[in-house]
Amino acid sequence: MYRSHTNGELRMENAGQEVTLAGWVQKSRDKRFMIWVDLRDRYGITQLIFDEERTEASVIEKAKTLGREFVIQVKGTVIEREAKNKNIPTGDIELLVHELEILNEASLPPFTIEDETDGGEDIRMKYRYLDIRRNPVKNNLIFRHKVTQEVRNYLSNQDFIEVETPYLIKSTPEGARDFIVPSRMNQGEFYALPQSPQTFKQLLMVGGMDKYFQIVKCFRDEDLRADRQPEFTQIDCELAFIEQEDILRIFEGMTRHLLEKINNVKVGSFPRMTFEHAMKTYGNDKPDIRFGMEFGELNAVAQHKEFKVFNSAELVVGIAVPGGASYTRKEIDKLIDWVKRPQVGALGMVYVKCNEDGSYKSSVDKFYDQEDLAAWAEATGAKAGDLICVLSGPANKTRAQLSALRMELAERLGLRKSDEFAPLWVVDFPLLEWDEDTERYHAMHHPFTSPKTEDIALLDSEPGKVRANAYDLVLNGNEIGGGSIRIHDKEVQALMFKHLGFSEEEAKEQFGFLMNAFEYGAPPHGGLAFGLDRLVAILGGQETIRDFIAFPKNNSGRDVMINAPAAVANEVLEELSIASKPSED
Ligand code: AMO
Repeated sequence: MYRSHTNGELRMENAGQEVTLAGWVQKSRDKRFMIWVDLRDRYGITQLIFDEERTEASVIEKAKTLGREFVIQVKGTVIEREAKNKNIPTGDIELLVHELEILNEASLPPFTIEDETDGGEDIRMKYRYLDIRRNPVKNNLIFRHKVTQEVRNYLSNQDFIEVETPYLIKSTPEGARDFIVPSRMNQGEFYALPQSPQTFKQLLMVGGMDKYFQIVKCFRDEDLRADRQPEFTQIDCELAFIEQEDILRIFEGMTRHLLEKINNVKVGSFPRMTFEHAMKTYGNDKPDIRFGMEFGELNAVAQHKEFKVFNSAELVVGIAVPGGASYTRKEIDKLIDWVKRPQVGALGMVYVKCNEDGSYKSSVDKFYDQEDLAAWAEATGAKAGDLICVLSGPANKTRAQLSALRMELAERLGLRKSDEFAPLWVVDFPLLEWDEDTERYHAMHHPFTSPKTEDIALLDSEPGKVRANAYDLVLNGNEIGGGSIRIHDKEVQALMFKHLGFSEEEAKEQFGFLMNAFEYGAPPHGGLAFGLDRLVAILGGQETIRDFIAFPKNNSGRDVMINAPAAVANEVLEELSIASKPSED
């Protein structure tokens, strides 16, 4: 038996007991006649004491050789501590050691393995297994486990069956590029790793599985951000014989259950917002509604004077920043520089200070009088003491820019509180989205999403106006899930492929298996997928999903610990009949 107890377990009640502990040396302090060691494992820290008066000399000698992160086993007696440590649960006791075995020595770790570390991100990623020994990372992984377990229980209790679907498949379009895997046995041919199990879960519905879920890895070759990884995990779900309303109800229930179980937070029924409303009011299809600062459109009250910039703009739109009237000129200039950064891309920003005395002071006083500015305040909901920030230009771009500013200011003002949860459904997404690069329409969600019946007639005349039976679950400004009611009729599916620019042959070649399956009695069905990494991070009060993944990739999609991706030997490439790289010399 390596240990009788863990290092988080012993309390005053154990005083006098003989126990065996094992773990890593976090710290060792040699105070001449006494040596103290903090012994760490997953469960906590127990202080060990080696005392010249009470511990054998040979054991003391061995204890003196202990370095950071040595793996040891000790036997000893639990005793009450003289100087208690209120900060840790085992702080009332210590272990008076009489036997010490060094199970493994350790090289000096490249950073300190404590809650506050001196290691930068890169070095911690390279030695991720050491980082996992630290509480912040370890606790995130335990937290993730708890969320996953709750999800499994909840869905299993609702009669969902977890079914695994293959990873070596053919492209499933979700809007990103595929990761491709060459096949040795089928020379010149390739598998794609799934961007999601979308087509398989639909086939499971044709197979009569009725209520499916899977906690599953998905792979997308796309640019990375704090909330995106090339491989990530979905809670993927699909149901047959349901309507959109049923899906929203079931998964609202699951989210509420998680908030209650994991965060001890009760939330009422989730608000619903149409895509159109979200874009107009927040400039974003995943609005953070923990705070206001809603958009006020100002075209009607700002386009009647000589200010050319506004007069020629498709949209003039502003937000009220609470307390912003006290910003200095310098602070406002910095804000203007911020919106002009290439990442945001605004050409400039007009502002109005709403003074405490009810007067207004703006950067465009030359063109607008107090009455005009009062109308702007009315439209943006600005009160005395606020600052109105106004952007103008093409509608979509300007909304996106103001949305970025809104989120940035909310962050700075501390309005994005991590312990406050504001979920909502965004519904009625457009079916199609115009792509400037390819100059054609793409499915906004994916090609299997059904159009709203009443909008089908618009497919030929105004495709951009057709709405889909598609919905996203948004939590604190993050899209944590999305799904749709699917097309289950082969005629409608064929129509959809046609509008997405697939020829009949192309559609058959790529999705023939699905169209075939629809020949054999496909039930009405729909579903959604949560991004598990995002869900876990947000429930954990953070937004960087990397911190909740045991072995994540960095921003260039690299695993710096195992050094992947990496070149492979020419022989391997030849075996796969992939052109090998010419040798360097
Ligand atoms: P969608 O593409 O919206 O839908 O993905 C579902 C959810 O997965 C999360 N997500 C990601 N998380 C981390 N890194 C990424 N690169 C990443 N990409 C997506 C998001 C998102 O809401 N098959 C459909 C679902 C359906 O229709 O049922 C799908 O995959 O939280």
